Amino acid sequence: MSRTKILVTGGAGYIGSHAVVELYEAGFQPVIIDNFVNSRESALDGVESILGVKVPLHRIDCNDAEALRAVFAEEGNVRGVIHFAAYKAVGESIEKPLEYYQNNVGSLLTLLTVMREFGVEALVFSSSCTVYGVPEALPVTEQTPTKQANSPYGATKQMCEDILRDVAAAPANKLRTILLRYFNPIGAHASAKIGELPLGVPQNLVPYVTQTAAGIREQLTINGDTYDTPDGTNIRDYVHVVDLAKAHVVAVQRLLAGTGETVETFNVGTGRGNSVLEVVQAFERATGVKLNYRIGPPRPGDVPAIYADVTKSVEILGFQTSASLEEALASSWKWQQHLADSQ
Ligand code: WQD
Repeated sequence: MSRTKILVTGGAGYIGSHAVVELYEAGFQPVIIDNFVNSRESALDGVESILGVKVPLHRIDCNDAEALRAVFAEEGNVRGVIHFAAYKAVGESIEKPLEYYQNNVGSLLTLLTVMREFGVEALVFSSSCTVYGVPEALPVTEQTPTKQANSPYGATKQMCEDILRDVAAAPANKLRTILLRYFNPIGAHASAKIGELPLGVPQNLVPYVTQTAAGIREQLTINGDTYDTPDGTNIRDYVHVVDLAKAHVVAVQRLLAGTGETVETFNVGTGRGNSVLEVVQAFERATGVKLNYRIGPPRPGDVPAIYADVTKSVEILGFQTSASLEEALASSWKWQQHLADSQ
C-alpha cells in the first residue's frame, strides 16, 4: 500500500529530523524541505542510517513561492504539511527582528498560499510555550492567556498562531490545523545517529551541559539562583525530542482523520517542571559524569518558571510523553559522545 505523503519543512533540523523518522516508522512518506540555514545535511545521513531508506529532499527556502510551488507540483499527492522551518534563537531575534519576522511569518504566509493553490488542507504548526510569556499560574493550560512576547521570536510564534486561526476561520477556508506548543525539547534518538546540533556556543541548557561534560566547554554557568523556586533556579518542562516527534505523528493522523475542529492547540510537554539544578543532578545520576558548574547572574528575559498542564493532549489528542528526565539526558550524552567519535 502506498504511503501517505507529508511535507516536513525544516525536516533536517533537530525536531524535524526526529519527526521524519517517526513519520516513516508510522507508515507515512515524509518529504523534507530544508535550506540548511540552521541545520546540517549530515542529519539526513543519520536519518537514512536509521530508516535504511533515503528520504526525498528539496533544498529550498519556504519563503520562495515559486520553488515551493515546484515542490508541490513535483511531489503530486501531498496530503499534509508539518511546518518546522523557522529561526528560533530568542537572543538573536532581539538583534535581528526584521529577519525573524520576514522568515518566520513570511514563510508561513507563503506556505499557506501555496497549500491553498494545491488544495492541501492539513497543517501541523510548530509553536512554543514562549507564547505564554511569564504565566500568572502554573501549570499552563492551552487556555492560559498568551502574553506580550518577551522577544521578536516569541512574537512571530504568536503572530503565526493568529494567522492560522484567522485563515481557518474564513468561510471559504478548507485548512485544518493543529498548533503544537512545545516546551523544552531535549535528548536524541536512541541510536545516537541524530540529535541536537547547536551551531557555535549553545544557548540552550542541555547542549551546554553535554559539551561541558565532554570537555568542550570549561564550565556551565547556571543563570541565577535567586528565583522564587524551591532551589532558586529556573523551572522548565523538559520533553524528550522523540516524544515530541511522536506528538506530530498523532497530530497528522488526527488531521487526516478529520476528527477534530478546524483549529486545535495542544501543549506538548511532560507536565512536570524541573529546575536547572535538578537537570544538572539528573545528568550526573544518569551518566555518572560530574559536572563543573558555577552560579552566575540571571539571564535577561528568562521566565522564572513554566511547565505544562498536559490534560488536553492526553484526553483529546490521546498523546502523552513516556521518557523520564534521566532517560532524555542519558540520550543527550550518548549523542554527544557519538559526535565526539565522529569528529
Ligand atoms: C533553560 C533554562 C536558562 C543555558 C528557549 C526558547 C524557547 C525554546 C527553547 C525554541 C533557563 C538556563 C541555559 C545555560 C543556564 N526555543 N540555562 N545556563 O530559554 O527555556 O527556552 O529554548 O522554540 O522558545 O525560549 O531554554 O535551554 O535556553 O534555558 O542556566 O548555559 O536553563 O537560564 O533557565 P529556554 P534554555
